Order: sequence, then structure tokens, then C-alpha cells
Amino acid sequence: MFVHLFCTVWVVVSLCDGVAAAGSPRHIVFIVADDLGWNDVGLHNPDMITPNIDRLAREGVILNQSYVQPLCSPSRSAFMSGYYPFKTGLQHMVILNYQPVCLPLNITILPQKLKELGYATHIVGKWHNGFCSWNCTPTYRGFDSFFGYYNAQEDYYTHTTAGFLDYRNNTSPERTENGTYSTFQFTDVAIDIIQRHDKNQPLFLYLPFQAVHAPIEVPPQYEALYPNVKTEDRRKFCGMVSALDEAVGNITKTLTDSGLMDDTLILFTADNGGWITEHGNNYPLRGGKFTVYEGGTRAVAFLHGSGLENNGTVFDGVGDYKLIDGYPGLYTGWYKPEQVTSDLNLTNIKDWATKYQLFNLKDDPTEHNDLSTSHPDIVKQLAARLAWYEKQAVPPNYPLLPDPKSNPQLYGNVWSPGWC
Ligand SMILES: *[C@@H]1O[C@H](CO)[C@@H](O)[C@H](O)[C@H]1NC(C)=O
Ligand SMILES: *[C@@H]1O[C@H](CO)[C@@H](O)[C@H](O)[C@H]1NC(C)=O
Ligand SMILES: *[C@@H]1O[C@H](CO)[C@@H](O)[C@H](O)[C@H]1NC(C)=O
Ligand SMILES: *[C@@H]1O[C@H](CO)[C@@H](O)[C@H](O)[C@H]1NC(C)=O
Ligand SMILES: *[C@@H]1O[C@H](CO)[C@@H](O)[C@H](O)[C@H]1NC(C)=O
Ligand SMILES: *[C@@H]1O[C@H](CO)[C@@H](O)[C@H](O)[C@H]1NC(C)=O
Ligand SMILES: *[C@@H]1O[C@H](CO)[C@@H](O)[C@H](O)[C@H]1NC(C)=O
Repeated sequence: MFVHLFCTVWVVVSLCDGVAAAGSPRHIVFIVADDLGWNDVGLHNPDMITPNIDRLAREGVILNQSYVQPLCSPSRSAFMSGYYPFKTGLQHMVILNYQPVCLPLNITILPQKLKELGYATHIVGKWHNGFCSWNCTPTYRGFDSFFGYYNAQEDYYTHTTAGFLDYRNNTSPERTENGTYSTFQFTDVAIDIIQRHDKNQPLFLYLPFQAVHAPIEVPPQYEALYPNVKTEDRRKFCGMVSALDEAVGNITKTLTDSGLMDDTLILFTADNGGWITEHGNNYPLRGGKFTVYEGGTRAVAFLHGSGLENNGTVFDGVGDYKLIDGYPGLYTGWYKPEQVTSDLNLTNIKDWATKYQLFNLKDDPTEHNDLSTSHPDIVKQLAARLAWYEKQAVPPNYPLLPDPKSNPQLYGNVWSPGWC
């Protein structure tokens, strides 16, 4: 598999080197939308109600060909570390609740670097870079504060996963918020951080929202925005996106009201494409979360604000050709909104094993025309490049057996560090 990772965040770190010299601090707000599909924003789909995201994107620089990994922990580990997951052992799948695995501790991550530059650093939302040791967790890795959860997914109201609480304020379990929808809570916590912040110090606010990952849960007033969507779960999913958009609107308004906006760079990205089975949508792109087709890896992404020279433009970097080596992942078709599918292409994994696919993304962004037979020279060239990367890969750190020491019953029924 060959995908580019556009490492926006690390570009930003180099921009930040000028902070001290420039006099006024450059604040950074980095928003990650979980499992948000290409076709799940108004920017790409007029049926979606996302005025805040659309406006910020159009005022800033739309990253129209920005690539992420096809699923969560691999992308998040790259956002934090600047390393491709195949160099950190996190390339295989997501980190599971009971695995003694985290983003390797000998890597200096983004908030640690920003602290060296004088930043106040806060994370609100989903970590998912491992939590088996306290040293793996956000406040031990450069963040001044953490409010959120460690694992992949959980209930938006009870904040439990696999039957146990996963919700923290810094290092303490947060048990009093049963019933609070996380999009509201994370927005309130982010607003509080911005309002309390001393604007003479640069601020790094990392906001990896729970939305719009499964489970499909949303307060009814957001679902009601989509009377024309017939499928109940897609209607709720669209509502989840609009609640997220409102959160973005409230947070940017607070930045403006607090006088920080003019010195703030906002980055927005999805961590991977929409999850077809869970009502995310990437049409007309091919596939979705769990595939290396564009629907899984080409993220909704943009930059907005301070330091940009090309406001109101669209950036389309990287080359035209894309090589896929072997099995492309679980969803291999093209899926329209409300097209319910269980189209997991698991049956023919062996058929894909020895196959290359080549696409010219400039002419064929929807990956309909496999050029591997007609362009063997390009296949050869990209395969050599892939082999060069493969030589640098470390083995995946993906223990199959659950570690019994992870059992939350050993820690007051809360998913907790302390077992690796
Ligand atoms: C972004 O890329 C898609 C796919 O190539 C293209 O259809 C669309 O027009 C581009 N959007 C913008 C704003 O340039
Ligand atoms: C971290 O440790 C691993 C395993 O010892 C090593 O392969 C890797 O090069 C180290 N990475 C850094 C950035 O020091
Ligand atoms: C988190 O804990 C701090 C310190 O105890 C407290 O001031 C803050 O209000 C708490 N945050 C939330 C959202 O409960
Ligand atoms: C949350 O509240 C609901 C409804 O009151 C209750 O059934 C559930 O047990 C509570 N969950 C937790 C984790 O406290
Ligand atoms: C945004 O702010 C409005 C007005 O205060 C509030 O009603 C709404 O619940 C907030 N939305 C979110 C997602 O926090
Ligand atoms: C781009 O817009 C931001 C505000 O959105 C502003 O701070 C910045 O100076 C603008 N850049 C240019 C080159 O106009
Ligand atoms: C599943 O993969 C096979 C190749 O092994 C392909 O021929 C088939 O069209 C795929 N099915 C779907 C639904 O995409």
C-alpha cells in the first residue's frame, strides 16, 4: 500500500520557529473530526449543513488533496509525532483497549516541541495513542491539560466503552458527567481554556472531537435539521456533523471575542474517511475508512488564519499517480449517502495479494480506471519507491492476546494506566 501523508502539523511547527522574533505569539488550534467523510461537509455536498466549517475553509486555504492514514491510531500517531506509522510500529490497526501499546516514548511529540517554544498546550477529546502506562498519556507527553478519553470509541453520553468508564479530567476519572453529550462538553472545556488563556503566551489547543465516530447518537434538535434524509441513522449522523460544526462556530467565536483570532492559525482535518457501515459518506470517492482508496485517505482538510499567504485558495500538492500494492481494504465500491451497505470485501483477500493497481488521480480522482497494465513503467517506478519505504519499516507492535492487567475492574471500573 502506498499513500502519502500530508503532515500539516509539522509544517506548522516550522512556521512557529518565527514566533519569538515576530513579537506577537502565534496560537494554533488543531481540530480533528473523527471519521468525517469527504461528502459529509457542505463544502462538498450541498445537503450538509456545516456553515462554520465551510466558511473557515473558504476564507483560508483548502487542502484539497491532503492524505491521512485509513484509520485512527495510525493517523493520530502521525499527527503527534510527524512519523509515518510504519516507522513507529503503529501501522497495523488501531490500538485496542487491552493492548499494552503506545506511541513509542523515545519520540518527542508535537506538544513537547511546542512547550520548548514557550507554548501553553491543551488537549480536549480523544487521545488514542495508547494509555497502558502513565508515561504514554497526554499530561506526561507535553500537554498541560487533558480532558477526554483514551480509547477508540465510546458512548457520547455515558462515556463508557466495553462497559467501563473512559473519561478523564487530567489524570482523574471524571464520573460526574453521565448524560452530557461530548460535543457540548468538549466545546465548553475548549471555550474555558481560551477564555482563561493569557494571550501574551502562545497557545496550542488540540481538539480531537469524538464526533462523528460511531455510535450514532445526537440530541434531537440536530437530527431535526435533516427532514429530507429518510434513513434514520444517516439523518442522525448528519445531525452529529452539524453539532460538530456548531462547536467549531462557538470555539471560533470565542477566539474572536477573546482577541486571539487575528494571531491564530486553525488547522482542520479528518483522521480518515467516512466509515460506510456507520453512515459516513465519501461519494464520489471510492471506498472509505479501512481502505487506501481515496475515500479512506483523502481527508477533508484546511488551514485558516494567521501566517497564511494564500487566503481563499485551493492547494492540490503531491504527484498524479497512485500505486496500490495488494489488498486495498474493506470497502472497495462507491457508495452514495443513505446507501446502506455491508460491502466488506473480505472474501477475496487472496485474489488481491499479488495485484498492483495504478490510478491517475488528476484525471480520475474517483479511481475507476486501473492503469497498471497500460503503464508498467510507472508501476515499476512507484513499486521501487514503495520497496525503499518498506526497507525502513519496523514490525507492527500488535499483540493479539488481551493483556489481563488491562482489566478496568482492577482500577475502580475505569480504563486506566499502570499495566505496562
Ligand atoms: C477538489 O478535488 C476534487 C477531486 O479531484 C475536485 O472534483 C474538486 O473540484 C476540487 N475542489 C476544489 C475546490 O478545487
Ligand atoms: C526508539 O527506539 C526504537 C527501538 O529501540 C529505535 O528503533 C528507534 O530508532 C528509536 N527512535 C528514536 C526517534 O530515537
Ligand atoms: C477539571 O479539573 C480542574 C481542577 O480540579 C477543575 O478546575 C475543572 O473545572 C475541571 N474541569 C471540568 C470540565 O470539570
Ligand atoms: C448513566 O446514567 C444512566 C441513566 O441514569 C444509568 O443507567 C447508567 O448506569 C449510568 N452510567 C454510568 C456509567 O454511571
Ligand atoms: C453553541 O453555543 C450556543 C449558544 O450559546 C449553544 O446554545 C449551543 O449549545 C452551543 N453548541 C455547542 C455544540 O456547544
Ligand atoms: C489571511 O487571513 C488571516 C485571517 O483570516 C489573516 O490573519 C492573514 O493576515 C491573512 N493573510 C494574508 C496574506 O492576507
Ligand atoms: C471484491 O474484490 C474482488 C477482487 O477480488 C472484486 O472483483 C470485486 O468487485 C470486489 N467486490 C466489491 C463489492 O467491490
